[in-house]
Formats: sequence, structure tokens, C-alpha cells
Amino acid sequence: MIRVGVIGFGYWGPNLVRNFTETKDSEVVAVSDLRPERLALAATRYRGIETTDDARQLIHNPNIDAVVIATPVSAHYPLALEALQAGKHVLVEKPLTSTAEQSLRLIDEAARRRLTLMVDHTFVYTGAVRKIREQVASGALGNIYYYDSVRVNLGLFQHDVNVLWDLAAHDLSIMDYVLPYQPCAVSATGISHVPNEPENVAYLTLFFDANILAHIHVNWLAPVKVRRTLIGGTRKMIVYDDIEPSEKIKIYDKGITVSNTPEHVHEMMISYRTGDMYAPQLQTAEALLTEANHFLRCIAGEETPISGGHAGLQVVSLLEAASYSMKQRGRPVEIKSIVAAA
Ligand SMILES: NC(=O)c1ccc[n+]([C@@H]2O[C@H](COP(=O)([O-])OP(=O)(O)OC[C@H]3O[C@@H](n4cnc5c(N)ncnc54)[C@H](O)[C@@H]3O)[C@@H](O)[C@H]2O)c1
Repeated sequence: MIRVGVIGFGYWGPNLVRNFTETKDSEVVAVSDLRPERLALAATRYRGIETTDDARQLIHNPNIDAVVIATPVSAHYPLALEALQAGKHVLVEKPLTSTAEQSLRLIDEAARRRLTLMVDHTFVYTGAVRKIREQVASGALGNIYYYDSVRVNLGLFQHDVNVLWDLAAHDLSIMDYVLPYQPCAVSATGISHVPNEPENVAYLTLFFDANILAHIHVNWLAPVKVRRTLIGGTRKMIVYDDIEPSEKIKIYDKGITVSNTPEHVHEMMISYRTGDMYAPQLQTAEALLTEANHFLRCIAGEETPISGGHAGLQVVSLLEAASYSMKQRGRPVEIKSIVAAA
């Protein structure tokens, strides 16, 4: 039985506490938060749970084997580092840290101490995203043309990170999981509509060495909630709509065929193919429960993290490069230079 302590019982922390309580191989023994009313709520929901406003007390509690961190992003790194140094396995909310350098430091600390370090890239544990990865890997889509995602709503304005770090972190983790290519450069633009607050609308373009283009549009100031991703391939195209209750993924047998006409060899003929659409059956287990069980099996040495430190570093490196580009009105920033500089 792995004994878990959760730091941060705000909006997302309660979901982690609930899921680690539901697994058969772990129990949540303590919760830490700075706000007394959140600790009171945790104590009411989970009789017998220890509560503290001092995260260090939880981290150094000898009865705790693993620490889960669901605080604002700026607190991820110091808490995760201290937990690893105290010999605890660590699961950190997305994005893993505020800089690539911090992610590298956590990866190094976990490796030296042979501890499990994971980041909560929740979507890679959903049936929908797993199905997309399977389709891309099997070659069913053919060669990938583009990855295009929109994640907008009237969202909670965060104060310590901009909309890219909050929302695009999801898209980048999904893209990294489903595409067999990594971006070589990024360009980002964004704007803030609240004085002295981070950007609340942003557009991110990702360039690849392969002939693929990716675009991510995120916005906390949209009148409707949209969570839609298009992935175009030479053979098939996927529409992933996370708002759809059941048919989240639709696979279209649509596309084009480019050929030369026999009479005019220099003229390109584009013909259109419109075949069937189907919506595959998806695994419906709650992503966080799948992830919690996976984290416990990684601690037991039975599995290797799907969203480990390196997956976290990849997302943070892209976000860091995007922030750098945003400051220069979208000037493309090479990814390698940022990772190397970190
Ligand atoms: N995976 C997902 O889908 C998902 C969804 C939402 C949020 N998140 C992530 O979860 C994290 C928390 O987001 P949220 O929306 O729950 O924020 P929140 O502000 O609602 O909650 C954070 C809580 O952490 C507490 N806290 C801050 N510093 C602390 C410290 N040093 N010790 C103990 N408690 C501390 C705060 O009092 C607060 O209650 C962020 O990293 C965010 O990116 C992930």
C-alpha cells in the first residue's frame, strides 16, 4: 500500500485525492493547503486524514511514500525538489515546472535517487487520446499534414501563468504523445486584456523538420467552450471533440489525390475523396484513475512512466520557447537552442 500526501486542495487537488483514495494500492494519509477552509473541507470529506498548512511537514512525514503536488505552477519546483530530496516519489501537476532548467534538475534528482517522477498530463490517459495515438502509429492516417487545436472558453484567469502555460500545456502534451515528430521551432503571439495580468489569448505555431505544421489557439475570454483538434493525414483525418459526450473521435476517410494529367504532364490534378466516417469505441475509465494506477505501478517498478520527467521537460521547453517568441511578437524560436541554454 503506497501512502500518499497531496499538496494543494484547491480546484484540481480534490480530484487527485479522490482518485488516489479509489485505487486499491494507495491511500491518501495527508493533505496540505495554505487556506484553512480548504483543509476543513478535506477533513470533512475524508475522516481521519491529516491536514496541515505546512507542506514541509507533509513532505517530511515518514508515513508518506509519495507526494502529489497540485499547487499553482510557481510552487511546483521547490516542493517537488524537496519531496525528492526527502526520498518521496512525486507526481506534479502540469506544467511540470516554470523553466526547462528546473525540469532538468528534477529529472536528475529523481534518477540519482531512483525515485518515480511523473507529471499529470491528464489527457494522455484518456481513451480518446490513446485511440488517436494508436491510429497515427498504425499508419491509418498516412503521412501527417497538420495538427490543429482550439481550446477556448470563459476560463479562470490565472495570475502566475499565462493562457499558454495553463491551456496549451494540454495540447502540447497530447501532440507530443500522438505525433512521432518533435517540433524544431515555435512562434507565439498573445495579448492581455487585464492590466498587469498575463496574456489571456494566444496563438502558437509549431514548425517541424518534416512537412507538418501545428497550430494551437487558446483563450480564457471566449463566449463558448471549444475543445477541438483536427489531425489531417494523407489517408484519413481525425476530428477530436472533447466536449462530445460519447463520440469524441471521428475518423474521416476524406482527402485529396494529386496526379498529373496524361495530356498535360506539368499540370497537377487534384481529385477529392469523400468516403465514410466512423466513431470508434473508446475506453471510458476516468483518466486520473488510470494515471494514479499507472503512477503506483511505476513506483512498484512494473511500468515506466508515460508522462515522466522528460515528457514534462518537452512541454516546458516548448512553453518557454513560446513565451520568448511572444515577447518578440512571434519571432520563431528554435527549440534546440532553448533546451541547450537551459
Ligand atoms: N490536469 C488538469 O487537467 C488540471 C486542471 C486544472 C488545474 N491543473 C493544475 O493544477 C494545479 C493547481 O491548479 P488549481 O486550478 O487547482 O489552482 P487553485 O488555486 O484552485 O488551487 C491551488 C491550491 O494550492 C494551495 N497552495 C498554494 N501554495 C501552497 C503551498 N506552498 N502549500 C500548500 N498549499 C499551497 C492554494 O492555497 C490553493 O488552494 C496547477 O498546476 C494547474 O496547472 C491541472
